[in-house]
Amino acid sequence: MCSVVGYIGKNYSRAFVMEGLARLEYRGYDSAGFACLSPESHRLLYAKAEGRLSNLAKKFEQTPIDGHLGIGHTRWSTHGVSSENNAHPHFDCEKRISVVHNGIIENHHELKSKLQAGDHVFYSDTDTEIVAHLFESLLLTHQTFKGAIVDLVSQLEGAYAFLVLMQDFPDQMLLVRKRSPLCIGIGDDEMFLGSDLLGFAGRTDKVLFLPDESFAIVTRDTIQLYDFKGASLPLNVQTVDVRWMDFEKQGHEHYMLKEILEQKRAIHDTVGFLHGASGQIWDLLGVSSDFIKQLHKINLMGCGTSWHAARIAQFFFEEICLMPARVHLASEFRFMPFFTETNTWYIAISQSGETADTLEALRMINSMKLPTATLTNVASSTMVREAGGFLLTQAGPEVAVASTKAFSTQLTALYWLAHRIALEKGIISESDLGRAEEDLLVVAEVLENTIENYKFDIANKWAKQYAHYKRAIFLGRHTSYPFAMESALKLKEIAYIFSQCYPAGELKHGPLALVDAETPIFLFSHQDELIYQKLLSNAQEVKARGGHLIIFAFDGQTELIELANLVFVIPRVKPLLGPLAMTGLMQFFVYSIAKELGCAIDKPRNLAKSVTVE
Ligand code: G6P
Repeated sequence: MCSVVGYIGKNYSRAFVMEGLARLEYRGYDSAGFACLSPESHRLLYAKAEGRLSNLAKKFEQTPIDGHLGIGHTRWSTHGVSSENNAHPHFDCEKRISVVHNGIIENHHELKSKLQAGDHVFYSDTDTEIVAHLFESLLLTHQTFKGAIVDLVSQLEGAYAFLVLMQDFPDQMLLVRKRSPLCIGIGDDEMFLGSDLLGFAGRTDKVLFLPDESFAIVTRDTIQLYDFKGASLPLNVQTVDVRWMDFEKQGHEHYMLKEILEQKRAIHDTVGFLHGASGQIWDLLGVSSDFIKQLHKINLMGCGTSWHAARIAQFFFEEICLMPARVHLASEFRFMPFFTETNTWYIAISQSGETADTLEALRMINSMKLPTATLTNVASSTMVREAGGFLLTQAGPEVAVASTKAFSTQLTALYWLAHRIALEKGIISESDLGRAEEDLLVVAEVLENTIENYKFDIANKWAKQYAHYKRAIFLGRHTSYPFAMESALKLKEIAYIFSQCYPAGELKHGPLALVDAETPIFLFSHQDELIYQKLLSNAQEVKARGGHLIIFAFDGQTELIELANLVFVIPRVKPLLGPLAMTGLMQFFVYSIAKELGCAIDKPRNLAKSVTVE
């Protein structure tokens, strides 16, 4: 999604803003822009470029604009195509007000018509530009700056976080937040502004997260914070430890590869953390031991890869805790009929803790005063602040758009949580929980070793061979079905190969018609004997029709292995953890295909890491 970064202080702003944007660029990369207040002419200067941030950096070679107040933006297009014209910052008619924005102004059509009728001239197709024009007109009609802002926010509908730099207020900047995150890093005679603290990690550890529906007027050494009615709010400054080092590639060609290879460590850290937190787990999650004992149903909500993790975890809760679990696709959830039930719990799963659809689903449940929690990888995220309780996966920062170690640590945490609930309910013993932790550590080992075993052949042989296919079908059953969905997603998002996933039992109800030698079929096995036998039949059905099978099988599944055109054999683990054991290998295979095709692996076209618009 879009990222905003700003600076006001004793130093020049451009280098900081560009560095911050570079760190956040993985979230959106359709265009970029920068505006500053010139210390010489006292006018707003700006530069914009279509495409990657490096295009903007090139512009500064000819026009090295800079100033002590600066704002920048990288864009993920929602309104208007990706072009220099639509790149932020956007301005008012006189170019005295500049705005960078993340989010969507939902009523921009209506506001734009009104402003156009009042002679405002627009230069872009974006929803953002109306903010600058509306603010321009409100500053003329209001006696106070604050009064104009209160009026501005009362007219804007949607979700937004924006920074405003104004020629007529050369010592201050305005920050406004509704639903989309925004924070201020407090330095020594300088303030760092950003939609995410990663934008200024390493510069300061003192951070103010703007509360929802608030605005701040910031100078280099002061912050005034208000709610949308203009009432003063206290400054709740937090000390946050973010290590920028974790955001470097550390010698790997891509972040995705680095993150795939970090999974054993990430699983170990997650298990270690959960083991240590076990005694206070219900406090962390914002519920009581009694609530867990009475719990009848668990609801998991998420999008994308997190939704797939939830789909796999459904089996954990149902088979280990012996209670129903429902999985909701967060983007659909709010539009479905809702039935209030007692003794149910809602857990939002999200790597970033910021995904708009998941956040809105969480807010909907919160508004009904039902118990919520979030499982996320980002301690400073909005979901952590808004959910009734939270659990943190210990993946470390995940930069590549395609989620890898966040997925495996989500599975780890959910498997552990299912056991911890079962222990609380008296279904399993303390030593069973200990064994589950050991099982997770074993799987981490398997995940890493299988990559190691196959990596040479994949990189040197199979990636080349499979990069030629234009489409693929993915099949699985039980837990391996949502895992097949996740695998198909990976192939789509990073290698741009059309991938269709089905539960293997549905093969004969349609997809079998697509089977030919040009459409490889990925089939993910299962260790349960009955499910294995069914998958074996499905593989035979494919083979009988001349299909090409890529099989992820478990040790000893000889009949299935013999049917494969390409086979990966994985050591046996606890059956419910089969998907976790296959995860690293699947990701590495898909990564290698995408690399062979020369795709932009870490920043796939049209996608963004943190989808903060609905
Ligand atoms: C985007 C990312 C996916 C991610 C999904 C949900 O689509 O590209 O990798 O799975 O958002 O993100 P979350 O942060 O909520 O897990």
